[in-house]
Amino acid sequence: MSGAQRALVIGTSGGIGTALATELANRGAEVTGLSRSGDGLDVTDEASVVAALGRLDAGYDLVFVATGTLGEPEKALSALAPEAFLEQIRTNALGPALVLKHALPLLASDRRAVFAVLSARVGSIGDNAIGGWYSYRASKACLNQLMHTAAIEIRRTHRNALCVALHPGTVATEFTARYAGRHRTVEPDEAARNLLDVLDGLTPEQSGGFYDYSGKPVPW
Ligand SMILES: NC(=O)c1ccc[n+]([C@@H]2O[C@H](COP(=O)([O-])OP(=O)(O)OC[C@H]3O[C@@H](n4cnc5c(N)ncnc54)[C@H](OP(=O)(O)O)[C@@H]3O)[C@@H](O)[C@H]2O)c1
Repeated sequence: MSGAQRALVIGTSGGIGTALATELANRGAEVTGLSRSGDGLDVTDEASVVAALGRLDAGYDLVFVATGTLGEPEKALSALAPEAFLEQIRTNALGPALVLKHALPLLASDRRAVFAVLSARVGSIGDNAIGGWYSYRASKACLNQLMHTAAIEIRRTHRNALCVALHPGTVATEFTARYAGRHRTVEPDEAARNLLDVLDGLTPEQSGGFYDYSGKPVPW
């Protein structure tokens, strides 16, 4: 993003959310940050979403949802637990969709505007070769479908809007502390730069897609 633009980041208490807000400010954007621990915004609670977003003025060039949880990833089907599964769906899929539902009127309608969420490559069905992590994988696949579906609807009324799901890479945050394993890890500030560069390069025709930190489409 270039100067004098307005950005809203949801999840500015998190590793990637903090870095996104900082990098956007470095790039000259006017940044509004909201979080659960800082502002009481629980993305799974629609009344909370309505209250937090209702206080904001319209005209955002970017709304970036950087929230999410990993829970206790299941190694085997035997570990699948209904409440833990539903909690992942609520937080990782329903939450960002509720934010989109209520943030849509905040997006600038007279120019290019972007709604982005943090998904994860492990939500890809086509890319899933090793299994495991049932709830997290399902929640991100669900999120991807919600974003793709919403992009189709939004295109009809917001011709300059983009609605995309992004894979940030494996980023060194609390989230990955226990699970990064042998993956190459990047620092949150590098991930934020990569993700914002990807968004800068996307055109409205690419709305509804799922892209990684280099801008490459991720298989569904
Ligand atoms: N780190 C990685 O390598 C990686 C890789 C792929 C995808 N991702 C995705 O990137 C996103 C952010 O990850 P991160 O590494 O930055 O994690 P993080 O440091 O653990 O931050 C998670 C953020 O989510 C917020 N959050 C969780 N549940 C919420 C709720 N119900 N309502 C509002 N906020 C909620 C937390 O808010 P509070 O702390 O204020 O409660 C915190 O701001 C997640 O969606 C994750 O799936 C991360």
